[in-house]
Amino acid sequence: MKKNMVIGVTGGIAAYKALDIVSGLRKKEIDVNVIMTQHACEFVNPLSFQSLSNNYVTTDMFAEPKSWDVEHISLAKKASLILVAPATANIIGKVAHGIADDMLSTVIMAARCPIVFAPAMNTYMYTNSIVQENIHYLKSKGYHFIEPDSGWLACGDIGKGKLPTPETIIQATLDLLEKTQAQKQDFQGKNVLVTAGPTVEEIDPMRYITNHSSGKMGYAIAQEAAKRGANVKLISGPTHLPCPAHVERIDIKSALDMEEEAKKHFSWSDVVIKAAAVADYRPAQRSQQKIKKSEDNLTIQLTRNPDILQELGKQKEHQILVGFAAETEELLKNAKEKLQKKNLDFIIANNIAKEGSGFQVDTNMATFIYKDGTINKHPMMSKTELANVILDEVKNKF
Ligand code: CTP
Repeated sequence: MKKNMVIGVTGGIAAYKALDIVSGLRKKEIDVNVIMTQHACEFVNPLSFQSLSNNYVTTDMFAEPKSWDVEHISLAKKASLILVAPATANIIGKVAHGIADDMLSTVIMAARCPIVFAPAMNTYMYTNSIVQENIHYLKSKGYHFIEPDSGWLACGDIGKGKLPTPETIIQATLDLLEKTQAQKQDFQGKNVLVTAGPTVEEIDPMRYITNHSSGKMGYAIAQEAAKRGANVKLISGPTHLPCPAHVERIDIKSALDMEEEAKKHFSWSDVVIKAAAVADYRPAQRSQQKIKKSEDNLTIQLTRNPDILQELGKQKEHQILVGFAAETEELLKNAKEKLQKKNLDFIIANNIAKEGSGFQVDTNMATFIYKDGTINKHPMMSKTELANVILDEVKNKF
């Protein structure tokens, strides 16, 4: 089947270069639908794009429909990739802030395919910290960018901001398309529930008990599962990490909040991976007012939090249940006990006292232990790689 790309053309002087991009992609047997913003139409006549793409050009959200589909949804569904070239500071800013007020921004909002921006603008606009922050934010959300070239710009300034040649853009988009098509989609239709990060147990309005968990492992699992086609819900304690693309994040604070959300979404789940570092205890009483200091020592009474994973293990029906064991000693013995007690399919044990393994860092060294007693020790690897190893193991259990 022919692949389809949506090319978004926004209002910059480089808009005319998009004509060569469209024609180059057609020569590569790609079916192209062009969406032009109103400002782009000031620079180039839509008819030119229509003639080159051999498809109707969409310019107006409320124009007479060309078909009976809801157009922004059908274009978003049909596209294997969306390329915005040239991409102005305006479209980058709109997407970064969730604004969908015309056909292009609406299609981008509704799309699940890779989205690539090729920015082109005045160099001072491009290097403006607001634009750079928007680009940085979108990259963290999984959007792709083709770096602009440096050189003499239409406004007379010299610097970074030129649209790369059509050949460069075509090659970059085709490479990305090939890479994403090669991506395994083996979790298509599966519902995956991931927990991540620490929990926070309040003592009073000012103080709390928590732990060193950064959330990196759980976020990597959520991200990779989504890339592999899963529907992903991520129950997350407070972290500084951005929510991965196509993941529904549910923010919680305490272990009790996490328990409530985990139970709520359990029947929806085919797979549950509990990477969160849940506080085992919380203050028996949360003081409504700030606790004032006195000359005496202070003792805080702690009470047990529920063991969420153990609760889920009891309720388990068809779900594949995976837990983590964070240990500092007797790794295998402790992890095996948790595997049994919590009725898990397998457990991922890691020694958090070892360098490069455990909280905060980007790597992990894990030992997988299975119900039948099999033990599989993995070398140190990035949390993203480990996420895929975990998902491969889960897939073997489907
Ligand atoms: N877990 C949970 N609820 C808790 C404690 C832990 O769901 N109250 C989950 C974690 O998300 C993890 C697994 O159980 O997947 C093991 O957590 P860990 O902190 O290693 O062990 P604990 O069961 O808390 O036991 P201990 O603290 O004694 O090592």
